[in-house]
Amino acid sequence: MKLSEIAEDLTEVLITEDEIVAKIAELARRVEADYAGEPLLLVGVLKGAVMVMADLARELTLPITMDWMAVSSYGSGTQSSGVVRILKDLDADITGRRVLIVEDIIDSGLTLSWLLANLQSRGAKSVEILALLRKPNAAKVDVTVKYVGFEIPNKFVVGYGLDYAEHYRNLRGIGVLAPHVYENR
Ligand code: PRP
Repeated sequence: MKLSEIAEDLTEVLITEDEIVAKIAELARRVEADYAGEPLLLVGVLKGAVMVMADLARELTLPITMDWMAVSSYGSGTQSSGVVRILKDLDADITGRRVLIVEDIIDSGLTLSWLLANLQSRGAKSVEILALLRKPNAAKVDVTVKYVGFEIPNKFVVGYGLDYAEHYRNLRGIGVLAPHVYENR
């Protein structure tokens, strides 16, 4: 679905479909240069990363494999606390493997900080992070993100995997959700 089809639910178009396509291609070229000739495992974090993973994986000219994790952060609904529970773990052992975590957004950075430590502790040869979006809050957590698509302001964004109450994930672009959508519920 296009952003224009739900224009009344948005205050702003933040990133267009074309901008996302161009950015994914740019990130893919960097990943290809860094992992040339080596088997790479992409680890997607459900559910938000589904779109980034699907587009990045198809853009890459490297032979990659994919695996998925589902985690839940305990917190007050919109704020994660850093306490993370694994709902679905990786299917495969990652000992000795080169791993790239694929995420849609880093907000507080707490989920990724925990996930990075968790995957590193399993004996992977390397664990790096690719995130399409990063909010300013993430700077408070000491987590190195090798590949960042866009630095975005601290606004409520939806689309391209990002949801509000599970909706809007199927938007082709990324927009800022209008307050009337969530204030009257
Ligand atoms: C989002 C996002 C990251 C996390 C980032 O997932 O996909 O995993 O929050 O937040 P943090 O940097 O503050 O830890 P969410 O928990 O909303 O689940 P979803 O991907 O299923 O929408």
